[in-house]
Amino acid sequence: MTLPRRLVLRAAGAAALTFAPFGGGQVVRAATPDPLAPWDAAPAAAAHPDPRVRALAWAVLAPNPHNRQPWIAELPAAMPEIVVLRCDLDRRLPVTDPFDRQITIGLGAFAELFRLAAAETGRAATLVPFPEGEPAPRLDARPVALLRLGAPGSAVPDPLFTHAGRRRSTKRPFDMDRPVPDAAFATLADAVAAPVRFGGTGAPMQVAALREIAWRAWQVEAGDPAAHGESVALMRLGRAAVATSPDGISVWGPGLEEAIAAGQVTRDSMLPGGAGYRVMIERYTAMLAATPAYLWLTTDGNDRAAQLAAGRDWLRVNLAATALGLALHPVSQALQEFDAMRGPYREIHAALAPGGGTVQMLGRLGYAAPVPPTPRWPVESRMRVV
Ligand SMILES: Cc1cc2nc3c(=O)[nH]c(=O)nc-3n(C[C@H](O)[C@H](O)[C@H](O)COP(=O)(O)O)c2cc1C
Repeated sequence: MTLPRRLVLRAAGAAALTFAPFGGGQVVRAATPDPLAPWDAAPAAAAHPDPRVRALAWAVLAPNPHNRQPWIAELPAAMPEIVVLRCDLDRRLPVTDPFDRQITIGLGAFAELFRLAAAETGRAATLVPFPEGEPAPRLDARPVALLRLGAPGSAVPDPLFTHAGRRRSTKRPFDMDRPVPDAAFATLADAVAAPVRFGGTGAPMQVAALREIAWRAWQVEAGDPAAHGESVALMRLGRAAVATSPDGISVWGPGLEEAIAAGQVTRDSMLPGGAGYRVMIERYTAMLAATPAYLWLTTDGNDRAAQLAAGRDWLRVNLAATALGLALHPVSQALQEFDAMRGPYREIHAALAPGGGTVQMLGRLGYAAPVPPTPRWPVESRMRVV
């Protein structure tokens, strides 16, 4: 499908986002200092007159790498059933995600959450991936997808959507006394569809082998100045910084605010040799060790459409896990395509895709106490009328 030329030309200005008011029924608030407000704004947007905005208010809650929220939603005024999804090219992770594979997965999760939210109100949303062609080796200004809403009554709700407000990436140690039941893997596998394949294990030997690769890969990233530096640059230290830029890695909350205000937690302290770096290593050593099970998604090919599909199914598996009371935490280091990661990348592929293909996602799975949501930019800051 080819986009009208007018939309194509506008892509060049994609970075200059402005909020476009939506008239009388406006319920989505303007930029707010509460970085968690978008989690309340999503259900509140049910009163918005534009069905695209109603679904987008949920879509911005999708999981995505380093919480960069790389989505831009264009709403063509002349085509009220269409959303053009683009990538904000400034929100990519060029060191750890050199081919924008993970960023594309996040955009796939966004599109699927849009579809589920639309279905909840009875509207189908069909997705046309990369309507102007698949960019390679990196994304470019062309659209990532066209999302087209159907008429009222064109879809029925998907039970997975019920869990969208409680879905999390749970970055915590899991309960090692509670194994994941075999039946849970079957339920999670049901959330996945072609071209994506599901894999999962709670078998102690296999879990131990995967944990060893994941932990070594994590150390490679933490020890690589460029890769670790990419994360450190995206840290938002303290509530004020998180409120100003509610994307990236938010370091905030009880106990931390005081340490940040006292200058004990700084960007420098997060570099090798610093106190923050040591705390991070201790935290992750304990966290990655406390992993009773893993799940993973693979695809035979690794084209952009496959990456979007992997994002779709990561979101679906994350919701299905939430429904079962299970916590899920992506651990992507071994899947990353930068040079220093070659060894762990080969090993994880030999273990999980021995017949060929790409491991698109790997996650820790288990039981954990609930964690709070992560910050988001308000939906209106990520969309514009064209
Ligand atoms: C493609 C992809 C890769 C990710 N990789 C990691 C990872 O390696 N480590 C991690 O802690 N979280 C990872 N995440 C989770 C994100 O950090 C998380 O989705 C984001 O911070 C938003 O938080 P939420 O999912 O709880 O809403 C990844 C998410 C996606 C979609």
